[in-house]
Amino acid sequence: MKAVAAQTIDDLMIPREDPYYYIAEETMNILEKVHRISKRHPVNVLVAGRQGCGKSSLVRQYAAVYRKPMATFQVGILSEPGQLFGEYALEGGETKYKQFLFPQAIRTPNCVIHLEEINRPEHPKALNMLFSLLSDDRQVWMDELGVLNVAEGVVFFATLNEGEEFIGTELLDAALRDRFYILLMDYLPNEVEREVLIKKTGVDEEQADQIIDAINGLRSNPEISIEVSTRTTLMVGEMAAVGATLREAIITSLQTSKETLESLLLTLHMEKGYMEKGYREKGESEYVLFVRDVLLKHGLVSSVQAL
Ligand SMILES: Nc1ncnc2c1ncn2[C@@H]1O[C@H](COP(=O)(O)OP(=O)(O)OP(=O)(O)O)[C@@H](O)[C@H]1O
Ligand SMILES: [Mg+2]
Repeated sequence: MKAVAAQTIDDLMIPREDPYYYIAEETMNILEKVHRISKRHPVNVLVAGRQGCGKSSLVRQYAAVYRKPMATFQVGILSEPGQLFGEYALEGGETKYKQFLFPQAIRTPNCVIHLEEINRPEHPKALNMLFSLLSDDRQVWMDELGVLNVAEGVVFFATLNEGEEFIGTELLDAALRDRFYILLMDYLPNEVEREVLIKKTGVDEEQADQIIDAINGLRSNPEISIEVSTRTTLMVGEMAAVGATLREAIITSLQTSKETLESLLLTLHMEKGYMEKGYREKGESEYVLFVRDVLLKHGLVSSVQAL
């Protein structure tokens, strides 16, 4: 059996708040209601949306804002029903049942429990035990641990990691979906994404505009079927903030064929007139010697930098 929850008690901490986390006002209001409901009884929320749109960070930020401890579990890799709870391990010549973090988390009052990729357990029966915890009785019985009751104030957040072509929640078993409030998330609007980009990566306004332009070009180009997530935008920004050209930043942050990218960059390059240092036709690059001495000579590494 694979070890799934190799976490320790330290994982049950209140996460640090992201100072630049933006959210639609409506979503914020719904989260406030969720918080209120959680004071009456445990509650389940399903967060669905495209890759990298901020689902996991929403869960973390909720816990941070309401000062609740949080633990995350990968449901996507579960291959047996009881795998989240614990496993038998050899200890001093004896086989003992070792509890994982999950049973502890559900018994911790006000805990935020993040179930990642709930639509993708390796084994369909792996969700069985979760079912009872998510339904009204909020308890499960196990040979090894007896009756486990969900503590007061617990909020279960499930996130769905859907492919590019899929945003909804239809893939989720109807019986399971039925037990959740559903939050559908989408990518941030341009102005907000620009703000996040500047705040989080440190690019200046001009760089941010260039990045957002390029990304909009990618998003609106029907010939290119790639999703550019907020995560990707931030990766581009981070590269640019440490001196990469727009081309370098985009080419390293996007996962798509080289040809597609090159043609897109060429279009951008022509349309927007981005002349970049070292830009040659079709991304041809000169070959240079990559050894420390040469870099030192060009001041690209500092002589005091550790080897
Ligand atoms: N609304 C937002 N405000 C600020 N930063 C955001 C926002 N949404 C996403 N980000 C940033 O984008 C990155 C990706 O977000 P996150 O990991 O939460 O996405 P996800 O939807 O869970 O992705 P996946 O589908 O791959 O699980 C993170 O660095 C996060 O901080
Ligand atoms: Mg995620």
